[in-house]
Amino acid sequence: MTQLATREFINGLPKAELHLHLEGTLEPELKLALAQKNGIDIGQSTIAEIRASYQFDSLASFLAVYYPAMDVLQTEDDFYHLAFTYLQKAHQENVRYAELFFDPQAHMARGIAFETVVNGFHRACTDAHAFNLDAHLIMCFLRDLSAESARQLLAIAKPYQTKILGIGLDSDEHHNPPLKFLREYGEAVAQGYRITMHADIDQVDAIQHIQQALEIIRVERLDHGTNIVENPDLVDWVAQLRIGLTACPLSNRLVADDMQDQEILQLMDHNVKVSINSDDPAYFGGYINDNYAAIAVKNGLTIEQIVQFAKNSFETAWISDAQKQVYLAEIDTYVADYFKK
Ligand code: HPA
Ligand code: ZN
Repeated sequence: MTQLATREFINGLPKAELHLHLEGTLEPELKLALAQKNGIDIGQSTIAEIRASYQFDSLASFLAVYYPAMDVLQTEDDFYHLAFTYLQKAHQENVRYAELFFDPQAHMARGIAFETVVNGFHRACTDAHAFNLDAHLIMCFLRDLSAESARQLLAIAKPYQTKILGIGLDSDEHHNPPLKFLREYGEAVAQGYRITMHADIDQVDAIQHIQQALEIIRVERLDHGTNIVENPDLVDWVAQLRIGLTACPLSNRLVADDMQDQEILQLMDHNVKVSINSDDPAYFGGYINDNYAAIAVKNGLTIEQIVQFAKNSFETAWISDAQKQVYLAEIDTYVADYFKK
């Protein structure tokens, strides 16, 4: 187990994806094809031009490219196509279980009905059962919109609740602390949703935001959240409560200084349930196996360390203990077979 993890080992390893924005899987090719089909002017007319527009060095500059691109998604089939394309790719990468973020408010603000979005995405999740991939949806509140808007979204989503597993919080964290949504999170829990939220990298008041999320709102996971290493008491708390942190090395590298790999490994050393995920792969240069490989290659990680990330992903997924045992056993079988070869 002290053997270094190769790309081949990573590719075949069963894993869960817990931090992926479906809108962040919109590859330039599909963006252009949907723009042409739907007659939308996106300001670029070639793949090269689209790629050249992907210049960001912060969360805010990324979001400024990310939201306008969603204009090309118009029909239920467009949403289906986007999600199903991602799920096929995830299946190829041996993702066995996925919880996927989506941003209904970003679509409703441009006149797309909630049901168009949720039905398209949910149908793709259902169809992924054909290749034995279990996928669920996490509906995000946009944190730069009002709490009232989040409350309205919860009400609109109510008839579709069987299609949505949990609630998340994303978009621009600056001046948008977790407590802004205290009541809406309380309501979401009362309605039976699981809860998580983003704690983006190096935000102003990062530690206070993480404290609000963990101690007051009592989220079950934190998305990103690696700034927690600045506060050892909070690190102990998440380790003891087995709260998952969903890290995304490649996206960290583009919106912050680096992959935050030292922070991720430090958390692992403190027995925090940190996992590796892909965030917005069409924008950040790689899907989940690229993320595992990036941190593995840079740090010379062993098979044991990589296996721990994959086990953490299943242990912090919103599934029963019995389901967790099934996936963890799949990992053990994979590792045993790998060494027999
Ligand atoms: N943080 C906040 N908002 C987002 C992200 C993220 O990582 N990805 C897509 N929207
Ligand atoms: Zn994210």
